Amino acid sequence: MKPSRIEIHPARDQDELKEAYALREEVFVRELGMFAKTDRDDNDNRAIHLIALDQRKVAGTVRIYREEGNWMGGRLAVDKHYRKGVGRKLVKAAEEEVKKQGGNSMQALIQSQNAAFFARLGWRRVGSSIEYLGRTHYRMEKVFG
Ligand SMILES: CC(C)(COP(=O)(O)OP(=O)(O)OC[C@H]1O[C@@H](n2cnc3c(N)ncnc32)[C@H](O)[C@@H]1OP(=O)(O)O)[C@@H](O)C(=O)NCCC(=O)NCCS
Repeated sequence: MKPSRIEIHPARDQDELKEAYALREEVFVRELGMFAKTDRDDNDNRAIHLIALDQRKVAGTVRIYREEGNWMGGRLAVDKHYRKGVGRKLVKAAEEEVKKQGGNSMQALIQSQNAAFFARLGWRRVGSSIEYLGRTHYRMEKVFG
């Protein structure tokens, strides 16, 4: 699928949000097996949920929220059929949204196999590795210049 067709913005209604949650469930519960039933948590209630739309289809999603004074990104998921270009666009859009909200940096817990992907987008490791949901994660940070 051509990433040029993709538009990214915050979920505008409950239908878009439901589709984003469904995609997350597909990726984090069924594909990666990181959660038994659902990956939803309390952070969803205060997060801004960005979605990547191809026409009306949600091709990817990521959430951002504030935690202890930091802007956090998380639950980055791209539909398997759209993996090539959409992930990068979503990370960039999350950074832009944090800037728009007045943040000058953001952090995320990144699965070790995705650290190189984030490093290429200018994210750097902070602190040591963390075991989370049975996988090694790194806390990574992007400071906006
Ligand atoms: C990780 C994920 C979001 C990447 O989405 P994507 O659309 O495939 O990413 P992009 O194509 O925009 O990636 C940009 C570049 O990074 C590369 N890349 C993608 N995943 C990578 C990885 N895990 N490690 C290193 N490089 C990676 C791409 O090949 C691409 O390279 P290019 O610029 O030479 O073309 C997607 O694979 C996904 O949803 N995975 C399952 C959920 C997940 O792991 N979420 C992240 C939790 S930390």
